[in-house]
Amino acid sequence: MKHPKEEKTFLMIKPDGVKRGLSGEIILRIEKVGLKIIGLKMFKPEEDKVDNHYPKNEEWVRRLGERTKETYRKYGYNMKEEHDTEDVLEMGREVRKWLINFMTSGPVIIMAIKGIHAVEMTRKLVGDTIPSKAELGTIRGDFSIDSPISANRDHRAIYNIVHASETEEEAAHEFQHWFGDSEAVWDYQRSDEMVMFPETKEKK
Ligand code: CDP
Ligand code: MG
Repeated sequence: MKHPKEEKTFLMIKPDGVKRGLSGEIILRIEKVGLKIIGLKMFKPEEDKVDNHYPKNEEWVRRLGERTKETYRKYGYNMKEEHDTEDVLEMGREVRKWLINFMTSGPVIIMAIKGIHAVEMTRKLVGDTIPSKAELGTIRGDFSIDSPISANRDHRAIYNIVHASETEEEAAHEFQHWFGDSEAVWDYQRSDEMVMFPETKEKK
C-alpha cells in the first residue's frame, strides 16, 4: 500500500475565484497547511472539457436536482413555478448546464496537490458546497455568501470559488482528465518534508 503522503487530489479555482483576485490566497492556504502543489496552470477551458469533467451518470445529475428541490422547499420557493418542472432529473440537467456555462465563462486555474489525506484535507479547506452554509475559516465560507436560492432563481450555478475532488476515485479521474501526462506536473522536496519524513531521499 502506498504511503499516505503520496495521496493526490485535484483543485480548480473557478472563474469567480480568478476574477475576484483570490488565487493567491487560495494557493497560500493550501501550501500553509502542508500540502504540496505539484501542478499549476491557468487557461480558459473548452466546453467539452468541462462537460467531461463533471459526471454524466443519472445518479449524479439526479443528486444535483434533488439538492436544488430540497433548497427550494426549505426556503419556501416553488420549483415548478420557477423552472416549470417537478422532475429532479430534469432539474439536475438544467443545473449541470448552468454549471458548464459558468465554468467556461473565464480563465480558471487548475492545481495538482499531494500530501497526507490530500483529498479530505483539501475538501476541509474548501468547505461546504453552499458558501452561505460553509464554516468561517474555509475558502468558501470566508470569501462568498452565495446561496442556491439566489443562484438558481437567476438561472446560474452557485459561485463557490473552487472545485475540489470529493473522493480518491474522483481525484484519480480528474487528475488524469486535466493533467494527464502533462509537463505541468512536478514533484520536488519541500523543506518541511525533511521534518515530517526525514527518511525521504532528496528529489530534484
Ligand atoms: O463542488 P462540490 O463537490 O462541493 O458540489 P457538487 O454537489 O459536486 O456540485 C458541483 C457544483 O454544482 C457545485 O460546486 C456548484 O457550483 C454547482 N451547483 C449549483 O450551481 N447549484 C446547485 N443547486 C447544486 C450545485
Ligand atoms: Mg463535487
